[in-house]
Amino acid sequence: MPEKSNIATLKPLPRHVAIIMDGNGRWAKQRLMPRVMGHRQGAKTVKEIVTVSRELKIRYLTLYAFSKENWSRPFDEVSSLMSLLYEYLQKELEELMDKRIRLRAIGEIEALPDKVYSLLVETMERTALNREMDLILALSYGGRSEITEAARRFAEECLMGRMKPEDINEASFRTFLQTGDIPDPDLIIRTSGEQRLSNFLLFQAAYSELYITSTFWPDFNRQEFMKALNDYRCRERRFGMTGEQILLRCTSSES
Ligand code: FPP
Repeated sequence: MPEKSNIATLKPLPRHVAIIMDGNGRWAKQRLMPRVMGHRQGAKTVKEIVTVSRELKIRYLTLYAFSKENWSRPFDEVSSLMSLLYEYLQKELEELMDKRIRLRAIGEIEALPDKVYSLLVETMERTALNREMDLILALSYGGRSEITEAARRFAEECLMGRMKPEDINEASFRTFLQTGDIPDPDLIIRTSGEQRLSNFLLFQAAYSELYITSTFWPDFNRQEFMKALNDYRCRERRFGMTGEQILLRCTSSES
């Protein structure tokens, strides 16, 4: 909870929240259940956190649902995760349309099983004009490959004579990333206590605030989410500047 003296200076809610959903397996193990039960409960948490984000008017929510490295998990677990994703897309379309939520994906989605891939593309198409919120699923996603692929495409543009090496700067390079038109995450939440990014949004996370909770993803609920958001709102984001510069910038933009 924010301290009383901080309340008057609370920052606005983050525009973009990204979440590393971790701890499904451990949640299940604690209950002597198969890992898939943890993922199933995790899918329910996805639904709750999307609902709360929409209520709070968080404009972008990115969820790390399946990393490139996750393909090396046991076949049965990968299949279960794919089935859960399929089920989620099937069940949630109506809600996404109702709440005007656009579903997007980042990652090598062509690697998904055909059936899941088709439904994902169809859901993205059907929700494409929704403008209240973007729900971005990171699927078969890896930050390093996203960056390398962007570099490869940039080089290709140069070879074709459409761009020159001197055109490369942070702003032009980011348009080659899959998140091209999406602002960087203001807040990255990681559940289950690990303190690393695990190849998630490596370029985009440069100035993101990090919030790590020991709560396992299946137990991460509205209250836990609000706690993370309140913690973020009490922080000062300086982007490498001094506190005084930030204050000056805030007061001059107010006048
Ligand atoms: C990490 O927990 C979680 C995943 C690899 C998958 C996340 C998937 C879901 C929450 C459900 C399906 C998603 C959607 C969008 C419907 P872990 O298995 O690595 O946990 P552990 O570290 O405790 O083993």
